[in-house]
Amino acid sequence: MMTAAFLTTAFVIGGVGAYYIQSKKHTEHRQHGRVMLGMAMIMAIFVAPAQVLIGDEHGLNTLEHQPAKVAAMEGIWEDERGAALRLFAIPDQENQTNKYEISIPYVSGLILTHSLDGEVKGLKNWAPEDQPPVMIVFWAFRIMVGIGMLMVLVGLFSLYKYFKKQQYNPESVWFHRAWMMMTPLGFIALLAGWFVTETGRQPWTVYGVIRTAESMSPLAAQQVATTLIGFIVLYIFVFGAGSFYILRLIAQGPKPYEDPADDNFYEHSVTESQGRALSGDSNPAKSTEEDIDTPANDVDDGGLR
Ligand code: HEM
Repeated sequence: MMTAAFLTTAFVIGGVGAYYIQSKKHTEHRQHGRVMLGMAMIMAIFVAPAQVLIGDEHGLNTLEHQPAKVAAMEGIWEDERGAALRLFAIPDQENQTNKYEISIPYVSGLILTHSLDGEVKGLKNWAPEDQPPVMIVFWAFRIMVGIGMLMVLVGLFSLYKYFKKQQYNPESVWFHRAWMMMTPLGFIALLAGWFVTETGRQPWTVYGVIRTAESMSPLAAQQVATTLIGFIVLYIFVFGAGSFYILRLIAQGPKPYEDPADDNFYEHSVTESQGRALSGDSNPAKSTEEDIDTPANDVDDGGLR
């Protein structure tokens, strides 16, 4: 989950950085764009493959503790030796089967049991009322893993561009477009992951112990609906305002560092000259040579004086 959050953030930063490098409106922000993209590339190259390995481990743990969820993620109905990886299928829960299946033999079994003829339990081991909603779990899992794989591909693309020393070149249009297109995908993968976890757990609140139906509070449907609508309205407002603000900041671009107008600014630095050096003010008009290096008396300098 932590790596997923890091990746999501990195792809936003990298996407915005790539936009600053490409945008004709933001030529003065290209340097910022390079720093942003460069840092995000490191995350994509190293953390995206790590996410795949962590996800694989997560899946093995789920297989041990919530096998019905894994069967739904994989769209497996019958117990299957050398289980196939379903690339595409429309799970039909009513008839307990898949429609329009496209699959690669052995791959799922290999991933889940680390052996070619390992057996994966099918959904039919559970009564229909004990199975999770397969369609949601199956597709949410594919969306999450699909985006994870795209992240790995963008990481590889970044490595290639890095070795060619073209990663910051505005002529690398497709490279920067790929980064820009990835900007929102981390959020979608995060949501898809939560859908897999929470929907795949159904019909249990505590797997195999308390059913969701048993853990409902004794409230009238109208009361629950009112609270739910309240939450939806509030979140639309909060996220709407937040997204609007963030998009405006991105459209404006980072502001160049400016000296604050107030004269007390330099009191916050250890010495006036260090403060001026930090702020890039190399030509102090108001100060004499002597008082430039005089430490401000009321500042905790951490023992540097
Ligand atoms: C690429 C390969 C990936 C694999 C194999 C993978 C696998 C898994 C598995 C097996 C689960 C567990 C479900 C459970 O037991 O409840 C899970 C959950 C999750 N995944 Fe992925 N995942 C991958 C990529 C990603 C990516 C790229 C993101 C987001 C950027 C992501 C975000 C999540 C989240 C947020 C959860 C829910 C965690 C929780 O609530 O405990 N995953 N993933």
